[in-house]
Amino acid sequence: MLTSLMNFTQFFFTVIIGLYFWGQLMGQKSDDNAVSKESKAEMERLHFMRRHTLTKPLTEQTRPQSLSEIIGQEDGVKALTIALGGENPQHVLIYGPPGVGKTAAARVVLEYVKTSDKTPFAKDAPFIELDATTMHYDERCIADPLMGSVHDPIYQGAGAYGNIGVPQIKEGAVSKAHGGVLFIDEIGELSTMQMNRLLKVLEDGKVMYESAYYSKSNKQIPRHVRDVFENGMPADFRLVGATTRRPEEIPEALRSRCVEIYFNPLTPPEIERIIKGAVERLNMPVSDELVKYMASFTSNGRDSVKIAQMLAAKVELENKQTPDLWDVDWVLKSGRYLKKTS
Ligand SMILES: Nc1ncnc2c1ncn2[C@@H]1O[C@H](COP(=O)(O)OP(=O)(O)OP(=O)(O)O)[C@@H](O)[C@H]1O
Ligand SMILES: [Mg+2]
Repeated sequence: MLTSLMNFTQFFFTVIIGLYFWGQLMGQKSDDNAVSKESKAEMERLHFMRRHTLTKPLTEQTRPQSLSEIIGQEDGVKALTIALGGENPQHVLIYGPPGVGKTAAARVVLEYVKTSDKTPFAKDAPFIELDATTMHYDERCIADPLMGSVHDPIYQGAGAYGNIGVPQIKEGAVSKAHGGVLFIDEIGELSTMQMNRLLKVLEDGKVMYESAYYSKSNKQIPRHVRDVFENGMPADFRLVGATTRRPEEIPEALRSRCVEIYFNPLTPPEIERIIKGAVERLNMPVSDELVKYMASFTSNGRDSVKIAQMLAAKVELENKQTPDLWDVDWVLKSGRYLKKTS
């Protein structure tokens, strides 16, 4: 009697425990189903977004694609090619007024030097562009687009790493540029702290991170995270900094590590050539008189191509073959351009 009571009790509890785990399993399955349903919907949305792209913006169409398309900076482009070409590329600082081709030149020079047999840059070496005026330094280093940052588990929420208390490393521009060029526009605007950290990375070729959540003895920390905390994140690149400031305003520590190159203000005939090149690439026939007239309203390359782009868009929208003086005047007036030369 006692044995059968015990057997019954045992059977009863086995069934209860079995039901409990079955319930858990079902719950987990329905969670999985909900996640996979949501992920499927998101994937469909992503595919839809990728199918619907806009055409190439006019700024892309007018961007110089080769060294010969950079106008009026022959010496600067030659110096840049020498500094970045060869077996041992150097860090570079480019001085010059706004919109005269500093960024455009650095981009095409990297593409050019990649074709050399001697260069250490690989064919797919990255060109990473940053603007120092938009990089605010965050003292806590929670988000640092330049150096990268550590996402401590407390900020990660319930992600796979967050749950097990593993700090995650988010690489910065210095690591994205590894093996290639890091181009920093207005480099003179970096804070002293950012500049010091950048100089250290230039010296070491890597970035070191710290986290109160990292411990060598924590066996849950995956190998790649441990490796980065112990050996640093690779960040070996060539720096090309551009600035509209004067050399005396740039920290000596940076200047001494870079080859210094100067880009010139553009002359009216050079501006004319830039406008001519832009209207040709936009397939818009424009008379030489109109090109000369447009050139008298700008003194830099960026404004020149912006005027050409706006004119091309106007002509296209109004189904015209070619612009007339009235169209050009309208574009100049709408962009508030003032006459520079007589
Ligand atoms: N010397 C030039 N030759 C040909 N095109 C030019 C030249 N300068 C500027 N442009 C045109 O203007 C655009 C903007 O130029 P870019 O960004 O290279 O100027 P920048 O000197 O880097 O200016 P900023 O100091 O404002 O960053 C280029 O993509 C190109 O279309
Ligand atoms: Mg630029």
